Amino acid sequence: MTSKDIRRQFLSFFEDKKHKIVPSAPMVLKDDPTLLFTNAGMVQFKEYFLGNTIAKNKRVVDTQKCLRVSGKHNDLEEVGKDTYHHTMFEMLGNWSFGDYFKEEAIKWSWELLTEVFKIDTDSLYVSVFEGSDDADKLGLDQEAYDLWKAIVPEDRIIMGNKKDNFWEMGDQGPCGPCSEIHVDLRSKEEKAKVSGASLVNADHPLVVEIWNLVFMQYNRKADGALETLPAKHVDTGMGFERLCMALQGVKSNYDTDVFKPIIREIEAITNCKYGKTEKTDIAIRVVADHIRAVSFSIADGQLPSNTGAGYVIRRILRRAIRYGFTFLSAKGPFMYRLVNILTDTMGDAFVELKEQKQLIENVIKEEEHSFLNTLEQGLVLLDQVIASAKSKEIDGRKAFELYDTYGFPIDLTALILSEKGYSLDEAGFEKAMQEQKNRSKSASEISKDDWVVLSGDSEQEFVGYDVLEANVKLVKYRKVTSKKAGEQFQLVFNLTPFYAEGGGQVGDKGYLEVPNGDVIYIIDTKRENNEIIHFTKNLPKSLNETFRVVVDKKQRNRTEANHTATHLLHQALREVLGKHVEQKGSAVHSKYLRFDFSHFSKLTVDELHEVENFVNARIEGQLPFVENRSVPMQKALEEGAMALFGEKYGDTVRTVRFGQSMELCGGTHVKNTGDIWHFKIKSEGAVAAGIRRIEAITSDAVKDFFEENNKTLLEIKEVLNNAQDPVKSVSSLQEENAKLKKEVENLLKEKAKNLKGDLQNELQEVNGVQFLAKKIDLDAAGIKDLSFEMGQNQDNLFLLFGTEQNGKALLSCYISKELVASKDLNAGTIVRELGKFIQGGGGGQPFFATAGGKNPSGIVEALEKAKGYIS
Ligand code: ALA
Repeated sequence: MTSKDIRRQFLSFFEDKKHKIVPSAPMVLKDDPTLLFTNAGMVQFKEYFLGNTIAKNKRVVDTQKCLRVSGKHNDLEEVGKDTYHHTMFEMLGNWSFGDYFKEEAIKWSWELLTEVFKIDTDSLYVSVFEGSDDADKLGLDQEAYDLWKAIVPEDRIIMGNKKDNFWEMGDQGPCGPCSEIHVDLRSKEEKAKVSGASLVNADHPLVVEIWNLVFMQYNRKADGALETLPAKHVDTGMGFERLCMALQGVKSNYDTDVFKPIIREIEAITNCKYGKTEKTDIAIRVVADHIRAVSFSIADGQLPSNTGAGYVIRRILRRAIRYGFTFLSAKGPFMYRLVNILTDTMGDAFVELKEQKQLIENVIKEEEHSFLNTLEQGLVLLDQVIASAKSKEIDGRKAFELYDTYGFPIDLTALILSEKGYSLDEAGFEKAMQEQKNRSKSASEISKDDWVVLSGDSEQEFVGYDVLEANVKLVKYRKVTSKKAGEQFQLVFNLTPFYAEGGGQVGDKGYLEVPNGDVIYIIDTKRENNEIIHFTKNLPKSLNETFRVVVDKKQRNRTEANHTATHLLHQALREVLGKHVEQKGSAVHSKYLRFDFSHFSKLTVDELHEVENFVNARIEGQLPFVENRSVPMQKALEEGAMALFGEKYGDTVRTVRFGQSMELCGGTHVKNTGDIWHFKIKSEGAVAAGIRRIEAITSDAVKDFFEENNKTLLEIKEVLNNAQDPVKSVSSLQEENAKLKKEVENLLKEKAKNLKGDLQNELQEVNGVQFLAKKIDLDAAGIKDLSFEMGQNQDNLFLLFGTEQNGKALLSCYISKELVASKDLNAGTIVRELGKFIQGGGGGQPFFATAGGKNPSGIVEALEKAKGYIS
């Protein structure tokens, strides 16, 4: 069975059981402060489990692209070393949101594996949570045990501890006991020797977990306590690549048709055969795995960068480059060449790969180039560290500096050192690393108290599209403390006009008014788990009042002008540059807007003008705001609404239209484009390979900008004695200046000519040498010309000129070539020696050299010493 068949059969099995097939959510999470990447299939459904949102479909099935490289579920360092862990993988899952529970979940999983996929029942083991006697005091999952006992022999049911059989998505949130299904892929002989049961969860490469059935029934609270969820849910996750391994009769995920084509390509590019040595095999697996993680992230709109999710992606890519560089003898960029085959193998299931192939290739190639440069620089620096080492053990702090400041990987440092007969003080490195971690941890650590719930009203309404003020009740609040922001409170109201940061637009600010007249500022608004959270420094004294909350109107209006301008800019870029332009990110603030988009060259001045004009024409056209708050997604797309890659959309969406510009958007906008007043581009530049960025301003900010420019212009006019036409005045000043320059040059030349005649008369013969040492009034270039001209008329010449220019001293020595040879004189050495009198240094060639210094009063003494060289 091909991997494509396997994926399809999984989905249709559950579709037959009344599950709705839904698409994978983006792998990169945009608006979740608690998580950078989707690390399990259930992430996109966590609001359903928490009861914040009611699921429309109670049964759902999908394959979710997951990335486990940070936070609680992190497999990065293992990847490549074994044959069954990955950074990016597909998780096949079926869900029940308050619908079926353990019985169906267990029965169907068994039916699918043994009857549809026909896995030999003798090679399957299942596990059941045995309970825990810690603070949670959870008992054995008897229900699951009994259900399994009805279908599998008892000796195949394994009791599992909390680590393996109680699944939690993070420190807080929904959780519950789980049953894992493991498959034993060893040969008959091996099975006879060692029982499979003893190898379950023992890191055996052929006895692996393939499916986890989680029975969500609790919520882990911030204080560590477990709370029973209002409804029971099922969350399952099956490792797609492992399932393929089991069904395709191979012994490694990397031998399935998911990875094989990529591995063949790596072999072809690097000339290293898979299966030859342990070291090269690990490297090939690392590269094969990481190209998937990086490509899928870029397709989701997350480019490698220096912070957050972008930094994680950069590290993954660099890990692969390093393995290629160190073990596969890769010489230049090579990863980008794998994008083609990846797209061929996975582009049907995940079209975003196909559609963004060119961009993915460009970004990876550019990253590879710059990291290979870093490696080269690092090698030079490492050589310096070795050269200055006092012993054969290299200081761990030095290695940490290389790692931290220059991004030079520590394993590479250790490898190079050992090749050169040195060792690394690993403890010192670890210590420096730990110290840095502690520093950044204490800076970013946030402690959150549990929510204090005041009312059970959990459906929260956003009224901020229509009004900027409202009377609200507090539903819940909590205290959060961090070093950066100090103590803050997070407040959730039953309804709110405050827009929560999202879709690039900043969160609203404003205030809350207590009936007694107290005012509490709302300093930011963010979204978490589908709830709108207002940040304040204080809490109202009495909490059960009706409060009036008011959005800062001025800031909101300016932000709206920038948001609408962003849509018009998007449209303009696609019109002016072409339909390949895709939005890659945006930041909409009250003071400016930023728009990132795919395009492969710098915009010309004409293009920028055209874009600006296009937007301004639509502003002048006074296009009204037309929104539809609830359109079926499919219909919106058919009508031509622009959707973004890597963005999560529901079944129904909101569309925002201004003339021909129509986008799926949740943000707030002006009522008429005329309200934007004017649009002005402030800068255009590159952010990454194939991604450009425009920063622009609108409304008040444009007025300020023009006023500032006008002020500068008035000042210039004033300097020009109130010239009527300052441009003409400046050009005529420039012309006059050029003319004067020319005249000065001619005068200087004339002066040098006269000087030459005088100086020739002053030459003195010393030991057959025509000698002159003298202080003159010419600049460096003039002295050089003069010396060479004198050299043309006179053989055996030795000249030393000194001059003082702008408070600095200059010595210039000319020696005829024949003297350099016959008398072994060297102008370079001479000026270096004489340079000390003027407190400076210099050098040059044997026949002409100069020295500069800061002590003009030393010139005389230097000149006096000159004769010594020839007498
Ligand atoms: N959420 C479960 C897991 O990730 C299925 O293993």
